[in-house]
Amino acid sequence: VGTMDDLNFWGKRVLARVDINSPMKDGRLLDRSRIEAHAKTIRELHESGAKVVVMAHQGRPGGDDFDHLEQHARALEPLVGTSVKFVKDVTGPEALRIIDSLEPGDVLVLDNVRLLAEENIQAEPERLVKTLLVRELAPHFDVYVGDAFATAHRSQPSVAGFPYVLPSVAGRVMESELRGLSKVLDVSSRSFFIGGSKVDDVVKVMPNLIGKGTVMTGGLVALTFAKAYGQYLGPAEDIVKSLGVEVIEGARRVLEKGKVMVPVDYVVERPDGEVEVQEAGQELSGVPKDVGPTTVAAYRDVIDASDAVIFKGTAGVVEDPRFRRGTVALLEAALKSGAFVLVGGGHASAALSWVEEGLRKAVGYTSTAGGAMLYLAAGLKMPGVEALAYSYSKFIARGG
Ligand code: 3PG
Repeated sequence: VGTMDDLNFWGKRVLARVDINSPMKDGRLLDRSRIEAHAKTIRELHESGAKVVVMAHQGRPGGDDFDHLEQHARALEPLVGTSVKFVKDVTGPEALRIIDSLEPGDVLVLDNVRLLAEENIQAEPERLVKTLLVRELAPHFDVYVGDAFATAHRSQPSVAGFPYVLPSVAGRVMESELRGLSKVLDVSSRSFFIGGSKVDDVVKVMPNLIGKGTVMTGGLVALTFAKAYGQYLGPAEDIVKSLGVEVIEGARRVLEKGKVMVPVDYVVERPDGEVEVQEAGQELSGVPKDVGPTTVAAYRDVIDASDAVIFKGTAGVVEDPRFRRGTVALLEAALKSGAFVLVGGGHASAALSWVEEGLRKAVGYTSTAGGAMLYLAAGLKMPGVEALAYSYSKFIARGG
């Protein structure tokens, strides 16, 4: 793929797709590490005299963290070093009017691109270029900068559509993630800790990961695999069932191929609000919200025997301080073990801030990406990267 060094941005209208999707609670940003990372790309474009339009998403429609991007725009301002405009619109007349009136060096953040129904489909490039999103916005731009590495595993129009119609290069985050991760993902004795709630992605990558190292699970991912092993989850049964039969069936098929470690105990929140540790496999009296101490000890043994530990997601509902202990204990175990520690994704990175301060410097690599990092580790297709490669050969390498 091409990089920002391949183009002169002065006076160019640049559409920069970044991934500043951040953990949010009650409408407030909990972590700004992705915003900080992408600010570098935006700042460089601003300083090179581009008319910069930033496109990004926050959450998924229907989710608690689905929100506007105004706070993100405000957070970017001091980092980019200029005033950042925000428009509560993506392709409507107000957005187009402001885009067309930008001066060199101006920076505009469009609203959450997933407010448009079309962004939430995944399709082949031929269909993506026909979306209204691409058809309406592309004529207002000279160049597209693909910086959203953390969303590069999605074949959505804003990620994998524009590069087929606009000269496109990788932004600085995309560039450094592709370079950095390809170096660290190739270690011999690896283990993976995979938590969080994006179970469908995990089920998809898992067949390729189990051959590459021991896989430990936490969060909703763990509950899904525990269910696939036949454990009864009590009050959490419905939560797992709501993921759909396909996901649970997918988890079962993964287990036919190899082993996935699941918690042997949980920190459970009872209906009366009390919190207690309960053994897995028994009738749980509440919803499991973290992994228990015996699980941490078992996972620590795996971590201690690994040369590299790859963390994605968290072990529990870390937004609530009562359910952070498992995640923090596992991160600390990894950081003390001497293994190379790779931490990926917004929630796991945010959890690093609760780790003993002196240990934090032992992190080997922090990726902005969770799911995308796993896709790369599993050797799966990255539509956002393929699109940039196509664009480079079609529009840039041949001087077109
Ligand atoms: C992520 O946080 O993994 C990316 O922003 C992609 O988000 P998504 O899983 O909702 O597509």
